Amino acid sequence: MTASGDWWRDAVIYQVYVRSFADSDGDGVGDLRGVRERLPHLARLGVDAVWLTPFYVSPQADGGYDVADYRAVDPLFGDLADADDLVRAAHALGLRVIVDVVPNHTSDQHPWFRAALAGEPGARERYHFHPGRGAAGAQPPNDWESVFGGPAWSRTPDGQWYLHLFAPEQPDLNWEHPEVAEEFASVLRFWLDLGIDGFRVDVAHGMVKAPGLPDLGHGAQATLIGTQPLPFFDQDGVHEIHRSWRRLLDSYEGPRIGVAEAWAPSSERLALYVRPDELHQAFNFRFLKCPWDAEGMRTVIDESLAATTSVGAPTTWVLSNHDVVRHVTRYGGGARGLARARAAALLMLALPGSAYVYQGEELGLPEVLDLPDAARKDPAFLRSAGQDGLRDGCRVPIPWSGAQPPYGFGPGGSWLPQPAGWDGLSVAAQTGDPHSTLELYRAALELRRALPGLGAPEAGWAQTAGEAGSEDGAPGPTGMRWLPAPEGVLLFTRPGFACTFNTRPTPVELPAPGRPVLSSAPVETDGRTV
Ligand code: BGC
Ligand code: MG
Repeated sequence: MTASGDWWRDAVIYQVYVRSFADSDGDGVGDLRGVRERLPHLARLGVDAVWLTPFYVSPQADGGYDVADYRAVDPLFGDLADADDLVRAAHALGLRVIVDVVPNHTSDQHPWFRAALAGEPGARERYHFHPGRGAAGAQPPNDWESVFGGPAWSRTPDGQWYLHLFAPEQPDLNWEHPEVAEEFASVLRFWLDLGIDGFRVDVAHGMVKAPGLPDLGHGAQATLIGTQPLPFFDQDGVHEIHRSWRRLLDSYEGPRIGVAEAWAPSSERLALYVRPDELHQAFNFRFLKCPWDAEGMRTVIDESLAATTSVGAPTTWVLSNHDVVRHVTRYGGGARGLARARAAALLMLALPGSAYVYQGEELGLPEVLDLPDAARKDPAFLRSAGQDGLRDGCRVPIPWSGAQPPYGFGPGGSWLPQPAGWDGLSVAAQTGDPHSTLELYRAALELRRALPGLGAPEAGWAQTAGEAGSEDGAPGPTGMRWLPAPEGVLLFTRPGFACTFNTRPTPVELPAPGRPVLSSAPVETDGRTV
């Protein structure tokens, strides 16, 4: 693949949701030792890197995205020695390791917030504490809403209010306070010194708020995230933070990378996060959000490539993660949803840039839709009285082997119940079955390594501005060229191969530019997908 200095430009990065990947000690919660023991699965799958979701000390009010100690491993997941062993074992297998960093907010159990509540002088300045409005300050300071529902403000017993864009247990930090920036620089160094290869930056668009914290004037604010400018997200000031982090990352032998979880209203706004002096990648949620529609997907692909190419960064492709309904289910579920998910996976892996695979998507796992309410842990579900944010169904521990739950997840149970019938979807059951989704992913990733035109864009593209390549025209800087295709079908070439993506329910006959090498359809003649 790409020369090691640029490994991230076309890397396939596998997201491990630690608590649901593999449990080594039988407490029903996945842990770092469990991940380490299962690394051979990832090496055999053929991915380049692993992204680990937060495993730091946390009360787990939001699955670990509420961090109480950024430099220590929560005993639920192991200890620092386990983190160290995991990084070394991954490197020995040629896998790079990316860890989450959560800079927008801490846990309410973080020593800083405890000091703020205890009234320690100056401690409240590290967060957003304000007096309320109205009689006796009984109304929140502004009308902002939490992403998880309800007001973005909670009141302390002494009458002040503090800002939390997520759960009340996740108070937002005040990034204008110099100690906040200093502390995070030190946290980044701590993990870089341990040998990690990069960070996934949680809520990378959130750290800076509009001056004066202006009202929005209306509700349903969470539905607008990523569609229009908001005074609490995607403010220009966040870029200064990312520039300073890039300098820090570049001061290490590497490259060590930063990946922005950023929600921006357009591909152009998102590309600002991956300018040459900012982070390396940003998740492309427009691709994930795109419905099953060939023309719509093509528009997203073109606009995403144009925006990132214009700043010299690779585009990323994401279909699922721990915050959204799994794409097998989004695409309709059942056999149809799975067929579409398999085709989308090959499309994603054939596009120029870097791709993210969420644990279990290589098994074709659907969303678990019928979890008992009592088992759910997602604060979005709990705060919206069950109306919103059903993020538990994509977090069910994955099946490895065996006929019964926990399907090899660990020696005990599993923190969320697994459905009956997942035995046929386990890694063991799918291994060796040429029609299985696991073998399809393995074959696609092997092909990605074998075909020089797949994955790595040709030399020099990064510096060139322009579009993906027009129909019947010259290939764009990514080496990609669209060819004419019937409605509902996408057809493009990149050096040495062509990709046909058919969203129609029936096969199409195309003047095939070459020999079919891999198809997402169970029957060979159906697809000619790659
Ligand atoms: C993470 C979520 C988390 C939120 C708050 C996100 O974007 O992916 O899982 O709830 O940040 O930290
Ligand atoms: Mg465990």
